[in-house]
Amino acid sequence: MSRGIAQAETVEDLRKLARKRLPLAMFDFVDGGAETESALRHNRAVFDRVRFRARTVVDVTERSQEIELFGRKSGSPFAISAMGGLGTLRYKAEIALAKAASDARIPFMLSLGANCTIEEVAEAAPQARLWAQLYTFKDDRLNRALVERAAAAGYEALVVTTDSNVFPKRERDRRNGFSFGLKKTPRNVWDVLTHPGWTIDVVLRGNVGRMESMVPLVDGPKDTHTLLAYFIKERSPALDWEALRRIRQMWKGPMILKGIMTKEEAVLAADRGMDGVILSNHGGRNLDYAVAPLEILPEVMDAVGPRLTVMLDSGFRRGSDVLKAIAMGAKTALFGRPAAFAVAAGGEIGARRIVSIFQEEIDKGMGFLGIRTLDQLGPDYLWFDGLATGPSIVRRND
Ligand SMILES: Cc1cc2nc3c(=O)[nH]c(=O)nc-3n(C[C@H](O)[C@H](O)[C@H](O)COP(=O)(O)O)c2cc1C
Repeated sequence: MSRGIAQAETVEDLRKLARKRLPLAMFDFVDGGAETESALRHNRAVFDRVRFRARTVVDVTERSQEIELFGRKSGSPFAISAMGGLGTLRYKAEIALAKAASDARIPFMLSLGANCTIEEVAEAAPQARLWAQLYTFKDDRLNRALVERAAAAGYEALVVTTDSNVFPKRERDRRNGFSFGLKKTPRNVWDVLTHPGWTIDVVLRGNVGRMESMVPLVDGPKDTHTLLAYFIKERSPALDWEALRRIRQMWKGPMILKGIMTKEEAVLAADRGMDGVILSNHGGRNLDYAVAPLEILPEVMDAVGPRLTVMLDSGFRRGSDVLKAIAMGAKTALFGRPAAFAVAAGGEIGARRIVSIFQEEIDKGMGFLGIRTLDQLGPDYLWFDGLATGPSIVRRND
């Protein structure tokens, strides 16, 4: 397997390796999107409509892809976004990713739905820049308990996800009988039996996909389904600015809203004391037909640019994608699925490989663009190929 990983040149190569190792339902859980999957496809399509205008007579002997993020140096302009349930793809997947992120000096965002606890990841990757992702609960005592644990474990930033107030309709999961675990259908049983590598690593080592960080919050039985039922019952679909104000008071460090998709809400985030936003349509997993974060980046930069650290995810598969977003003003990009495929395919080796693929493509891209540092990059390095992004982009191309 590690030979396959070493030979993987792209996210797509790692995706194919993950497809081979995982039962279909597990693969589809990662790969799929909501409803028609239009938002999922669109996230990729927009990158094709942004092209580069390179400077060629430039000395690019020395290149650095370091950036400054929340007052600290980051090794590269990308980070790994939160994903729940990764332990059902690979035993202790979150730790593998946190270690790879740590060595690359990039942030790793731990999902509240992770199969490793907040504390366990911090202990296993003590040098890592860890961000804690929170889904908010009706009862502030739960929010406070989680926020305090993240602070005690040394997490750098708190990321509150704002785009998941209801549960999405993911049709692949429904067809596959997958809902935070596999239903025992004949096809799933067959699929598990015919993927022994995955079965030995995940099932026999006892990872049944519990949301481990939730365990101390629940009295009584702590099996996967009880925890999930508790999570669903206590989740707040009434996330509003008042709830965010209370959470803001609980957390001293950088607080980021993930899932903001309009300049209007970005302005509110800045007004209400947030430090950053991650523009995201959840990788096309929630609201189908959502616009892509890259499309709204210009209007958000115009509205809040200097006041907020503006980041984005959804659809990043190439170093060139990251360079486009940085040129349009984003501080950093994040990705989810590339890391999930990588860790599913090859554990820690896979995690390191995905980081190195992005690093290499960014480095070569910088060389060809004629830049030595990322702060040299701006919209004048881009050509917008009929991208309907509204007035800001048109102005930028003038
Ligand atoms: C398997 C999977 C699980 C996810 N779980 C979470 C989660 O628990 N919390 C969250 O805020 N976002 C979650 N996301 C969304 C990611 O954080 C991120 O926004 C998305 O994956 C970015 O799109 P990309 O996969 O195209 O890079 C998940 C995504 C995937 C693929």
